[in-house]
Amino acid sequence: MTRQLLVTSALPYANGAIHLGHLVEYIQTDMWVRFQNLIGNNATYVCADDTHGTPIMLRAEKEGITPEALIARVHQEHLRDFTGFNIAFDLYHSTHSDENRECAETIYLALRDAGLIEVREIEQYYDEEKGMFLPDRFIKGTCPKCGAEDQYGDNCEVCGAAYTPSELKNPRSAVSGSVPVLKPSQHYFFKLSDPRCQQFLRDFTRSAPDGIPVLQHEAANKMQEWLGEPGENKLSDWDISRDAPYFGFAIPDAPGKYFYVWLDAPIGYMGAFKALAKKEGRDFDAVWKAGSKTELVHFIGKDILYFHALFWPAMLHQAGFRVPTRICAHGFLTVDGAKMSKSRGTFITAESYLQRKLNPEWLRYYFASKLNGTMEDIDLNLDDFIAKVNSDLVGKYVNIASRCAGFIKKQFEGVLGQTDRAVFDRIITDEALTEITAAMEARDSARAMRQIMHLADEANLYVNDRQPWLLAKDPEQRAQLHIVASTALNLFRSLSVLLKPVLPALVTQVEGFFNAAPLNWADARHPLPAGHGINDYAHLMNRIERPMVDALIAANAESLQATEVPKAEKANDKKSEKKAANVEAAKDQTNDHISINDFTKVDLRIAKIVNAEHVEGADKLIRLQLDIGETENDQPTYRQVFAGIKSAYDPAQLVGRLTVMVANLAPRKMKFGLSEGMVLAASDADGATPGLYILSPDSGAQPGMRVK
Ligand code: 2FM
Ligand code: ZN
Repeated sequence: MTRQLLVTSALPYANGAIHLGHLVEYIQTDMWVRFQNLIGNNATYVCADDTHGTPIMLRAEKEGITPEALIARVHQEHLRDFTGFNIAFDLYHSTHSDENRECAETIYLALRDAGLIEVREIEQYYDEEKGMFLPDRFIKGTCPKCGAEDQYGDNCEVCGAAYTPSELKNPRSAVSGSVPVLKPSQHYFFKLSDPRCQQFLRDFTRSAPDGIPVLQHEAANKMQEWLGEPGENKLSDWDISRDAPYFGFAIPDAPGKYFYVWLDAPIGYMGAFKALAKKEGRDFDAVWKAGSKTELVHFIGKDILYFHALFWPAMLHQAGFRVPTRICAHGFLTVDGAKMSKSRGTFITAESYLQRKLNPEWLRYYFASKLNGTMEDIDLNLDDFIAKVNSDLVGKYVNIASRCAGFIKKQFEGVLGQTDRAVFDRIITDEALTEITAAMEARDSARAMRQIMHLADEANLYVNDRQPWLLAKDPEQRAQLHIVASTALNLFRSLSVLLKPVLPALVTQVEGFFNAAPLNWADARHPLPAGHGINDYAHLMNRIERPMVDALIAANAESLQATEVPKAEKANDKKSEKKAANVEAAKDQTNDHISINDFTKVDLRIAKIVNAEHVEGADKLIRLQLDIGETENDQPTYRQVFAGIKSAYDPAQLVGRLTVMVANLAPRKMKFGLSEGMVLAASDADGATPGLYILSPDSGAQPGMRVK
């Protein structure tokens, strides 16, 4: 039966550029939607810009334009970038639209009528100079826990503590610099703590429409933690209003109050579909009313699970709409093992990638080969990126066609011969196709790509074995040559079918080469018949050369210097709200405590400093060679660590000492070389007692011993 699906990706904010971190999700969703349509389902993919909120309002003000002008410009930029990466939305809309306003009002009024909206007075910091209430991220001050200066109103980047803005010492507004005052105001809350919501969410967490759980295992666990044990009521009500001035939708029955941006953001999925339905004459209610037969599938990052798995389904359900069929969360993207960094040039924008003429399908393939349907983070290792694309796509897949197409063209006037079915059926088996289909359905594209490349290996082995280049030299082998080249090209065609969700542009070219209708999933199992005329083969894909990647990194590091803006301006109040929501919901899970599992993830080892030296050109660093008992071929090997302890130690004093190191920290490429861990040192955070003190174990400890 043809499944009807409405699929979404999270809506990107309309005040920043699309970067590779965003693209993980759009590529993942786009591949899945393309796959669904290829196997004969009917999947619609909508998305939109997330346009409301204080940061967008202030950004527009800073640029001297209206928020409407800002979001119109960013909409163009986002669409340009998505199109460049072959992300094929059915509609890319905006949350600042009539359709979204209608949907937001409908949902709000239904919740109000159900008795799930409550008005309460709360106190918040107010910037008198600017005449506005301040979101947490627009308040800076001294951390109440560790005393670090210049920390945000919701959490400290130095010690990680989470707190409320009123706990911050010496608060000041990041907008005007003035000292904010606490001021009361009426706020509208969605009563998530209502027993109806709690019960619904417990059922929702465990639900498995069509036998597949609505949430991934890790996400369901997170939900259990947020919901607590049966009978417990851990959820706090959700503040959904903001005071003027605010860029957003006015709340219908509350003058001067606006819907908080996170209220109308997920409703933006609905708004986008409503606009599409209008445009294409489709039935909105059939998709969105309770009892809908259409599957609603949301792809999101794990950081916004709280909004999508708690607030969003609860709102939908209580307002009489259908709820999500599936929420598919993915992890974060790291580049070369570390968080994307502007200064290292690894915060790579989609625009820069396209401008430097890197092939978008290289990245699509690389992400496909890493995504496995879980919430694990994925790493874009640049060396691996180059090696994998060159080896798999160019060396294995495209290679089959480039080795064999010439024979058909030159010797057989572009007409295919018989396919050796024994060979074809041995490689393109029903089992392989079933497994690849199942892996793609489960969003385990990594597994699917491994299997596809295994088939490509088999196809290449076949060509190696039959050596068409030798057959071509012998007129008596002409018939055999025709079969071998045709069989290889048909194998290539089947692989193209399987790669079509990942490499849509390349496979469009392949379809032109084969001179036949666009490929469908079922075509993988059926070779083109003898006598079918194909077109000339044109080169399909270049190799990635390292200098291209280096230039991309350099371009992103440079563009940072030209465009760097102060942190508070880039910050979005939604992030802080999210954090506050998490903190409130799981009050006993604050950053004051970690679980024993969290602690044991850190591999602490006794390390002997076997060498220590100054680092030329570095003011703070000492290069250490550390023995933690590791060997290679029975020879001791040492870890190199750059430690920022030069102000306190003379290298000569350190040699021979024992200390403690973190042995499983991801290696970091530094200007001076690779740092393969970290040594532990104590210091007084507020600087009252200056100095740095590296740790020493009690006597008897040996290099390599685990510290627990
Ligand atoms: O976190 C974000 O980037 C949000 N703009 C995502 C919104 S997703 C949906 F709820 F709209
Ligand atoms: Zn702190």
